Amino acid sequence: MTLARLAHALETGAIDLSSDARIVLLEPAPDADLGVIPARDVTVQHSFKPTYDLFDTQGVPVTTDATGPADIVHVTLPRSRELARGLIAQAEAIAPDGQIIVDGAKTDGIDAMLKFAKDRVAIDGQLSKAHGKIFWFGASGAFADCALPDPAPVTDAWITQPGVFSADGPDAGSEALIAALPKSLKGRGADLGGGWGYLTKHLLDNPSITHVDLVEADHRALTCAGLNLKNSADDRVALHWADATTWGVAGSLEWVVMNPPFHTSRTPDASLGQQFIQSAARLLKPKGTLILVANRHLPYETTLSASFSQVQELAGDPRFKILQADQPKSSDKPGRAKRR
Ligand SMILES: C[S@@+](CC[C@H](N)C(=O)[O-])C[C@H]1O[C@@H](n2cnc3c(N)ncnc32)[C@H](O)[C@@H]1O
Repeated sequence: MTLARLAHALETGAIDLSSDARIVLLEPAPDADLGVIPARDVTVQHSFKPTYDLFDTQGVPVTTDATGPADIVHVTLPRSRELARGLIAQAEAIAPDGQIIVDGAKTDGIDAMLKFAKDRVAIDGQLSKAHGKIFWFGASGAFADCALPDPAPVTDAWITQPGVFSADGPDAGSEALIAALPKSLKGRGADLGGGWGYLTKHLLDNPSITHVDLVEADHRALTCAGLNLKNSADDRVALHWADATTWGVAGSLEWVVMNPPFHTSRTPDASLGQQFIQSAARLLKPKGTLILVANRHLPYETTLSASFSQVQELAGDPRFKILQADQPKSSDKPGRAKRR
């Protein structure tokens, strides 16, 4: 994912990139090595806050909504097919007379996207490398009808957008969590990885809850959350575009509720949920409570026992487990703020 395919295309001269070209990269991988690009005018668009911050720290101009104008737009194929097509449509809008480069892994559907593109445009070139493909063509507006739709209501009037988690409506695990949610939660808390706001909206039904911080890294999902929560006009909620593994003040919350992420791209990754659990333990007051839902097979119990004094299964079925963890253990590990 290091832009190896683009580097190869540049090295072999298949793609010729002038140092004066204005280039925009849409959603590159966090480990993308921008050093392979000879152009001086490089902008990155990213919706995922940890990756946005990574590029920002490197001094790369980064935005959530690139508008150009540009000469070349490089699109890294995301998991969602509709989002991928939407990004190509955006690329053509950013560089209407320019070159569009589409780059992706086989597992993210690059072959299907190449086939889809061939039905619309003349492909100028393509290369295969590193379990994926890169292809390029001149912008012509041929993808205009694929533009990412604005956030819009789906099932039960929840507002979502293609590409966000559970874009078709509420996630079954989150529904199971809400069904099992203890009524005893009160005071200030957070919904870590809050997505488009399903859990937070339900948490606000409890009048004993005085404040919910919805923390979400995906800018598009957070925008949908804002729309889903706007109608309730509830001033007990705050939205944060942030990395939940580092966000917030240690020892500041009574409770944390979450359906933590369990994938990096298409690869199952339990370490993400484990980092969320550790972050919840960091954020909670000494008598605080964490409630989470997880797919039954995910190995969270060891991390929960290491981070909390009490752990129990509140509810579950063969697919999901709803876990409650109380009383975070204090930690003197370097890099972790002590609870107050
Ligand atoms: C399993 S989904 C749950 C979404 C939502 N809570 C729900 O119930 O529908 C996990 C969410 O965590 C978000 N996420 C992933 N990594 C994150 C991070 N480091 N910080 C904050 N949110 C993150 C994802 O974008 C996704 O929306």
